[in-house]
Amino acid sequence: MPEPSDRPRSGGDREPTALRRRRAHTTSRDLERYAGLFAKRTQVMRSSAMRDLMAITARPEVISLAGGLPDTSTFPPETFAAQMTRIAHESSAEALQYGPTEGFVETKECIAEVMAAEGMRPDLDDLIVTTGGQQAIDLIAKTLLDPGDPVICEAPTYPGAVPTFCSYEADVIQVTTDDDGMRVDELESVLDDLKAAGRRPKFIYSVPSFQNPAGVTLSAERRERLVGLAREHEILVVEDNPYGLLRYDGEPQRPLYALDGGDYVIYVGTFSKILSPGIRVGWVVAPPPVLEKIGLGKQASDLCTSTLTQYFVREYFAEGSWRSYIDSLIEIYRFRRDTMLDALTSHFPSQAEWTTPEGGLFVWATLPEFIDTTDLLAKALRENVAFVPGRAAYVDGRGASSMRLNFSGSNEDEIREGIRRIGDVVGEQVALYETITQPATAGSDGVEEPGAEVLPIRPRRRDP
Ligand SMILES: Cc1ncc(COP(=O)(O)O)c(C=O)c1O
Repeated sequence: MPEPSDRPRSGGDREPTALRRRRAHTTSRDLERYAGLFAKRTQVMRSSAMRDLMAITARPEVISLAGGLPDTSTFPPETFAAQMTRIAHESSAEALQYGPTEGFVETKECIAEVMAAEGMRPDLDDLIVTTGGQQAIDLIAKTLLDPGDPVICEAPTYPGAVPTFCSYEADVIQVTTDDDGMRVDELESVLDDLKAAGRRPKFIYSVPSFQNPAGVTLSAERRERLVGLAREHEILVVEDNPYGLLRYDGEPQRPLYALDGGDYVIYVGTFSKILSPGIRVGWVVAPPPVLEKIGLGKQASDLCTSTLTQYFVREYFAEGSWRSYIDSLIEIYRFRRDTMLDALTSHFPSQAEWTTPEGGLFVWATLPEFIDTTDLLAKALRENVAFVPGRAAYVDGRGASSMRLNFSGSNEDEIREGIRRIGDVVGEQVALYETITQPATAGSDGVEEPGAEVLPIRPRRRDP
């Protein structure tokens, strides 16, 4: 409980800034005061690396390649103003009111249009509108996971899912990815091992298209095999697909949901990357018994998704231009992706490798093993540039020499300059490493002076 002296002061008697700043930092006295109150699960809760970074990268001088931000400046302000004005004039009372937990039918119809664009036709009764895709992941975990339950995901996985799985105390097993997405052969042996141990994973979580963070896409054969394995083992697959419509090259792949028909695949979607993350509107499609529990979880969590922003989605879709807006995003992001790939070639050392995404928002770069990208981030921030260190995408400490780089939220100059700055700090680390691992040098008398042991830098393959 707050001590009398800790109580907020009234009206004009405002605390001096220094005092407020001090109070913003937790003291050991605070820790003692609250320690006995925390639930056990808080011990395994993890902070989201991207959320932490957002506070630092909000500084205007920082070039952030860390966020997963779509470029919302591309959305025409006049369209936004006209739609919000229309809502205010025509539907003010409803738009400002609570709505149904499962979402408005009209929002669901807009979602059906988006899903149809990728060949999916869900029954709208099997769909709940959520507060972003993130809430859908949280509700699925809340519905299905008891502490210690196995969950399988990609290695690396979406960094925002890591804190969610941790807070429900899942036993997360990560399956390697390569250029064709999750290694389904490895998944198969993980499933066999779990079966032999009498354990049944609650679900397999996958971002099959333009994965966050690796940018890779699950191949058609692996999609078929993954859905087949789900059927054979009677395991749910959570398909998280925020980027499917943001394809810059190559042929579209069928979503897992379309291949499976919705028996074993739970589908998560969002308007965040194709319209706006600020509106916080996403959705989940699940088999009816699972959806019912998810709905109960949502009631307890937030009653309903913002009615105001659901009205905005409805108005926006009524205009009929949502596909052409996505086409304009594709043009912009394709150019930014190409700019980033070009800048990487110019500024990263030859020992680095990176993925070449056909869509989405991210490139995943892997540096020589002696570089730890968590340490490197501190150096990069001093040069006013940020990325997400690879460890954020793992639960087991792997990913130490990798980084996630976002190309959608920065313009051409920022991308080039950002990659140049990161390339410079990487270059310094490589030079330092080479200095301390120099072979012994011959002294003036021709006798070898002792030097450090030479550890070879393993060359890495660069993607085409
Ligand atoms: C794979 C993935 N899932 C879910 C989300 C969360 O998105 P939303 O803004 O819809 O909550 C993101 C956001 O970056 C994402 O990349």
